[in-house]
Amino acid sequence: MRLYINVDHVATVREARRTDEPDPVRAAVLAELGGADGITVHLREDRRHIHERDVELLLGTVRTVVNLELSASEEILGLAERWQPMQATLVPERREEVTTEGGLDVPGGRERLREALDRLASAGIRTSLFIDPDPDAIEASAELGADAVELHTGEYANAVGLEARARQLGRLRDAAVRGREAGLAIHAGHGLTFENVVPVAALPECEELNIGHSIVSRAVLTGMEAAVRDMRRLVDDARRFGA
Ligand code: PXP
Repeated sequence: MRLYINVDHVATVREARRTDEPDPVRAAVLAELGGADGITVHLREDRRHIHERDVELLLGTVRTVVNLELSASEEILGLAERWQPMQATLVPERREEVTTEGGLDVPGGRERLREALDRLASAGIRTSLFIDPDPDAIEASAELGADAVELHTGEYANAVGLEARARQLGRLRDAAVRGREAGLAIHAGHGLTFENVVPVAALPECEELNIGHSIVSRAVLTGMEAAVRDMRRLVDDARRFGA
């Protein structure tokens, strides 16, 4: 199972101050040292977190794989063709959303997606479509010739109660089996946390997980003590020894 770490929300913290820290590129280096098999970033059309500079530096420094999430917009597709990341995941994008809501409408957006997939594949990029775990979306993705699908785990993550959780896990399992039978590689992601990841990670057909928010959230907490200790020492030394 490949574990790809999404560092978008490191950039979200940076953009809260429009400064240069924390740097998602530095976070990516540390994620790789921690065992990440790849780094995922979403260059959104409104550039709310990741910027061109981040993707360009990541492409030059990441030693594993850069998985670029992108909408099928002309501008972003053009950048992907130029950058040629190892993998690109097409996602739906709406400006008013807080995060990606729902998977792609593959049957409805067939022509646009086919063109986007053809352009990415012609640039030598491995392609993936972010879809809801439904049979129609699986069939349409296979028909369009994507290399992989990323199953949206958001409804599983949000399910309340054991029964609802089991039902959503069943949907993911069925979609994973159907997708493998159709020749697609199976990825999964969105809303996965330390509490809910295990059953998804155990799905035998699934070969890649994309996890962002929960990892960044954990990193903020586990890093807090050391960060305060470092600042404490700096401030105390200034009082003792002067500047
Ligand atoms: N996969 C896709 C396609 C996404 O859009 C996102 C969120 O950017 C993720 C995975 C990661 O989701 P989360 O941040 O909830 O782990």
